[in-house]
Amino acid sequence: MTSNPYSTRTHEAMKEVLLEPEAPAPETFYHMLRGGPEKGNVTIWEPGRAGREYIKTLGHYHTWDFKETYRILAGEGIALFQKRASAEDEALEDVRVVHVKAGDVLEMPIGYGHILVNTGSGLLVTIDDSPSNDPSKPHADYEPIRRMHGMAYYIVEDNGVPALMRNSNYTSIAKEDLGGLSVIG
Ligand SMILES: [Fe+2]
Repeated sequence: MTSNPYSTRTHEAMKEVLLEPEAPAPETFYHMLRGGPEKGNVTIWEPGRAGREYIKTLGHYHTWDFKETYRILAGEGIALFQKRASAEDEALEDVRVVHVKAGDVLEMPIGYGHILVNTGSGLLVTIDDSPSNDPSKPHADYEPIRRMHGMAYYIVEDNGVPALMRNSNYTSIAKEDLGGLSVIG
C-alpha cells in the first residue's frame, strides 16, 4: 500500500479521454493530496486547455453508493454528471451540467459518473470527503470513461466561452440539463 498522499494526473495519462489527445496541453492536468474522509482530499486543476478542451479530471463512477461533497475553494469550473441507463455504457439516462465557483458546495449525485473542468484563468481548487483510495477496496471506477474516451460531452472553448461537443461514442441520452451551454459541432 502506498503511503505517498501526493499524486498528479499528467497529459500523457489523460490522452485516452481527450477530444484532441495530441493537441498542445499543460504537462500536468491536476494535482491531488489524499487525506481521506477525515482530513479531506484536495484537488488542484491547472488552468488552460488541451487543444480546445478545458483542463479536466479523468472521470469515474463510484463502485458503491456513498455521498461525496466537494467544496470549491478557489477558481471556477463546470461539473458534468452522467447516469448510465444500464450496465451498458453507451446509453445514458441523464446528463447534467453545473457551473461552480469559489464558495460553492457541490454534491455528487449518487450513481452518476462525474468530471470537473477548470474554465477559469487561474487554478481551480477543491476539497472533498471521498473515501481514501484503499487499493483493496477502490471507490472509483475509471474504466467505463476510458473505454468511451471521455464523458458524454467535451467542454471546449468557443469564442472565449465554454461550450459542449458531443462524444459520439454514446448512442443516446434520454434526458439532459446542459446548464445553458450551447452544443457545437
Ligand atoms: Fe467521485
